[in-house]
Amino acid sequence: MKIIRKVGHLRQLMADAKDSGKMVGLVPTMGALHDGHISLVDRARKENDVVVVSVFVNPTQFNNAEDLATYPRTEEADCRKLDGAGVDFVFIPSVEEVYPEPDTRQFNLGDVAAVMEGAMRPGHFNGVAQVVSKLFEMVKPTKAYFGEKDFQQIAVIRRMVELEGFNLEIVDCPICREPDGLAMSSRNTRLTTEQREVAPVIHNVLAKSLDWAKTHSLDQTRRYVVDEINSAPYMEVEYYEIVNPRTMQPLAVWSDAPDGVAVGCVTAYCGKVRLIDNIKYIL
Ligand code: PAF
Repeated sequence: MKIIRKVGHLRQLMADAKDSGKMVGLVPTMGALHDGHISLVDRARKENDVVVVSVFVNPTQFNNAEDLATYPRTEEADCRKLDGAGVDFVFIPSVEEVYPEPDTRQFNLGDVAAVMEGAMRPGHFNGVAQVVSKLFEMVKPTKAYFGEKDFQQIAVIRRMVELEGFNLEIVDCPICREPDGLAMSSRNTRLTTEQREVAPVIHNVLAKSLDWAKTHSLDQTRRYVVDEINSAPYMEVEYYEIVNPRTMQPLAVWSDAPDGVAVGCVTAYCGKVRLIDNIKYIL
């Protein structure tokens, strides 16, 4: 596995791969890698000739300085995991390398970015669009892989791809969970032992709500999820919305779900750690 730190070097290697007709799979990450990331790499490995993983904690998508400062950085362990997973190239640039000058682009991300994470973290999705568009432009991947834990992020990235006219396939990959149901996340390492024991309540309540939804209205189901999660120690729901999976807009009634599919998206604090998860209701 080659470690690349310079954009010029990356561009050269990617041009060589493309010239020899190779399919290139890109897995963008912010490091602190776990098995969820490795599942994206495995999928990319199966579907491409060359796999590139970027490891870059992107400052422009953080709207909270403390969150950026405390985001876990584990470069050595990340490289060991990626090497073991058969990655060809890992791109680990500095902030100056990605942003030689401030990125002032404002993407017209529309309605998909206006709700939930977009409403709670102003500027976050614009920052994601900035860095992902730069990575797409540098790597020119055939396919790029994203985890469904960040369900809304995938919709935003699809929108950015449409706006910028990138010619690539976005592949969404299922959430990976710990044995107790907690969605894998780099942020989980910040939970105390006591909080870690409680955090699976998020998924457990979402899973129970699938049954509840069969006999209750959408609004009752929404309130059930919020109340059940909030009743656990350390937990506080920031939002729970049941949305149209195409537009990300909150639904008012189950019958508005397109093709009978709605997605419940939750963000909850466990102590100071902000966790996100989602679940699909097939109606
Ligand atoms: O999902 C993430 O880890 C990040 O938002 C991404 C897509 C790597 C962009 O920095």
